[in-house]
Amino acid sequence: MLAISDLHVAYGGTQAVDGVDLRIEKGRTVLLIGANGAGKSSLINAVIGLVRAARGLISFEGRDIGGLSSDARARLGIGYSPEGRRVFPTMSVKDNVLAGAVRLPGREQGRCWDRMVATFPFLAERQAQAAGELSGGQQQLVAIARAMSGGPKLLLLDEPFLGLAPVWIQQISAAVRQMQEEGLTVLMTEQMARPALKIAHDGHVMRAGRIRRSGTTAEIRGAALAEEYL
Ligand SMILES: Nc1ncnc2c1ncn2[C@@H]1O[C@H](COP(=O)(O)OP(=O)(O)O)[C@@H](O)[C@H]1O
Ligand SMILES: [Mg+2]
Repeated sequence: MLAISDLHVAYGGTQAVDGVDLRIEKGRTVLLIGANGAGKSSLINAVIGLVRAARGLISFEGRDIGGLSSDARARLGIGYSPEGRRVFPTMSVKDNVLAGAVRLPGREQGRCWDRMVATFPFLAERQAQAAGELSGGQQQLVAIARAMSGGPKLLLLDEPFLGLAPVWIQQISAAVRQMQEEGLTVLMTEQMARPALKIAHDGHVMRAGRIRRSGTTAEIRGAALAEEYL
């Protein structure tokens, strides 16, 4: 579904991603684990088109997407939840969630909303409230619901668990599991390996812009946990 080869991302003199190869088959949940500064967000941002790759190829369903805008990539079916629970603070909860489904016709947007309420029931009670008034955990759920609401084929989650209480981590994990059953493909990043290892199938340990270990989550578990303490 997603194939990245020889990806380089640089900011001035800093090589944030330094030659990464990564393949994700349809239906897999892949975890990119690494400490702060490892290059995880830079890789995710290159896939969604928020940063330009200095070199390398990114293909989605067999198509080179490196030259497409972020919007065009989203329309192809790539959903994205940014690091740091970013919501539109003055917009309502419902409008925030449906911002991920704007490309769909009105009636389907209604169905998307119903599906997201079934996944995260608190959305119904809070739908008219400004998203900026929610707790941090709730804002993160809104950001993830937005990424899921358009029915993406590939979901990119950049540190979805960062700073969240276990109750929110469990809700997000349950939502990801439900979407896995429907065939969704996921690429998620984390610094905290433990909860992420429970929902991912495969993983890569990233350090200083390069992938150091790859395998199933069972195979990389030790290396991933060691990375937490760096
Ligand atoms: N916009 C930017 N400008 C300059 N350097 C950046 C920028 N974003 C990230 N970096 C640098 O790139 C490296 C990788 O960062 P990042 O991809 O954010 O890592 P991670 O998400 O794993 O914490 C770090 O050294 C970071 O300081
Ligand atoms: Mg990051």
